[in-house]
Amino acid sequence: MSKHGPIRRRTAPDIAARKGGEPIVSLTAYAASTAALADPHCDFLLVGDSVGMVVHGYPSTLPVSLDLMILHGQAVMRGSEQALVVVDLPFGSYEGGPEAAFTGAARVLAETGCGAVKLEGGDHMAETVAFLVARGIPVMAHVGLTPQAVNTLGGYRAQGREREQWERIEADARAVADAGAFSIVLEAVVEPLARRITEAVAIPTIGIGASAACDGQILVIDDMLGLTPRVAKFVKRYGRLGEHAEAAIAAYASEVRARHFPADEHTYAPSA
Ligand code: KIV
Repeated sequence: MSKHGPIRRRTAPDIAARKGGEPIVSLTAYAASTAALADPHCDFLLVGDSVGMVVHGYPSTLPVSLDLMILHGQAVMRGSEQALVVVDLPFGSYEGGPEAAFTGAARVLAETGCGAVKLEGGDHMAETVAFLVARGIPVMAHVGLTPQAVNTLGGYRAQGREREQWERIEADARAVADAGAFSIVLEAVVEPLARRITEAVAIPTIGIGASAACDGQILVIDDMLGLTPRVAKFVKRYGRLGEHAEAAIAAYASEVRARHFPADEHTYAPSA
């Protein structure tokens, strides 16, 4: 504890209060180490179910379990101290109805200590959002491209390219906002629609591939650090960590193959 007392973590209401103000900064986080690096710079860290694809190599987010999310949520909580930590509810853990969602979400809050959960879906999830919020669980919503629905969407496609889709996506955002969500992720939504939704709802919109018209942005940390070989075209890489890591590993391998074991220079001597 510092001499000024413990640092108070940001809360869901703190994020909600940022509507229309200073842009909200966010990254995904899956491990204590990267959470510690991101924490001083981010308003919230999302333990996204993208962990399944990014860290565990699954082809989609669908195989991710609640236990896996809790494990990564605990790691991110241990690595961070000031950012709000939001943990994704994985596919299959909440769509069965409000009670099922409450059981999963309550486990996430109780076992990780995080401050909020995120779930995907609009109008059809409004009842569940209201149910959770009424029982003390802050909910971040997620509309537009919802990766857990990849099979019904037919792929990972930008949403709202056709004007006829706008009304439905805006209605989804309004429904979860009215149900009490404290913010909404807008994923892969065209700029004019992101702007329209941001103006229409009273809670902050957090864009990922949804333009600067949103109240904040989130990126997948491995993508922006340059750790993933292929990224969506909207992602700016702020680092080239993948290239640096590979060069370091190659240098290590060639030294070991040349029998230059770095430990030779600092080797333990037997005691006399
Ligand atoms: O799982 C995730 O990382 C997400 C972000 C892309 C918003 O939901």
